[in-house]
Amino acid sequence: MAGRLEDKTAVITGGANGLGRACAEQFAAEGAAILVADLLPEPGRVTVEAIEAAGGQARFIELEATDQAANEAVAAAAVKTFGGIDILVTAAGISSGDYLSGDTERGLKRMQQMAEATEINPAAALLDLDLDDWRRVIDVNLTGTLLAIQAAGAVMVDQARGGAIVTIASVAAVDPLWGAPSYPVSKAGVWMLTKNASRTLAPLGIRVNAIGPGFIETNMTAVFDQTEDYRNLILGNTPMGRFGKPHEVADLALYLASSESSYITGELIHPDGGWFTG
Ligand SMILES: NC(=O)c1ccc[n+]([C@@H]2O[C@H](COP(=O)([O-])OP(=O)(O)OC[C@H]3O[C@@H](n4cnc5c(N)ncnc54)[C@H](O)[C@@H]3O)[C@@H](O)[C@H]2O)c1
Repeated sequence: MAGRLEDKTAVITGGANGLGRACAEQFAAEGAAILVADLLPEPGRVTVEAIEAAGGQARFIELEATDQAANEAVAAAAVKTFGGIDILVTAAGISSGDYLSGDTERGLKRMQQMAEATEINPAAALLDLDLDDWRRVIDVNLTGTLLAIQAAGAVMVDQARGGAIVTIASVAAVDPLWGAPSYPVSKAGVWMLTKNASRTLAPLGIRVNAIGPGFIETNMTAVFDQTEDYRNLILGNTPMGRFGKPHEVADLALYLASSESSYITGELIHPDGGWFTG
């Protein structure tokens, strides 16, 4: 039986870990050729090997999401290696300026420092926010999404055969959550960028939708899962009473990337166990 993405090529930024990796594996299982683009070559290699071992087709390319030339090089590599781009998923993202996927110790230390600063000044997360930290989060999450859309979008427009772009926002696009404003503001930006891009690209047959996950079990949320107060806070606000699994986000990405969602564009959909119901 033909897969749902047979003969398609997908570029997945942040494809080495977590949600991007789940998308890469599920899309490949449905017949797409995958270009995994990520800052981290080692987990990128592991992802490609897992896809190949399952009978799929994938390559890795290094990407710093904030670098325009690097995004253009990713798009050019997809054309050279697989003949074009039909799907883009923008899953490269960070939760704080110094976030490094897989370095949970660093994340826990950061949370400890934040808790201590908040003890002294309850408004520290906002008033003492480091400007470099703010800039890096906005740069990677928001500007990185723009650059990926521009590079892959230009290829899709040239090809003149339509396309599907799926951005990864967050429930934080519509819920300020807690702590520093950088992350929710970056994700609200991704949401509006998605809506704006969907209007521009719809006449060209390119659909652009956003996914706004709740709390999903990845490297990014490991710090919450391992901190009792946060874990209780998150589970208490999630009516389904559990963290989500990466494949539960990839299932939605697959739907949005495939022709099953052919009349849907400009939407933000939340796989979040009921967190956001507005
Ligand atoms: N896990 C969740 O609960 C959750 C919820 C809502 C939104 N998100 C968003 O989903 C996306 C994926 O997060 P995840 O949970 O899979 O985390 P993750 O850490 O498992 O994966 C993120 C990937 O992005 C890559 N990346 C980070 N900065 C990069 C850069 N500058 N250039 C290129 N690649 C870079 C990392 O190397 C990593 O492979 C992020 O945008 C995140 O904000 C996650």
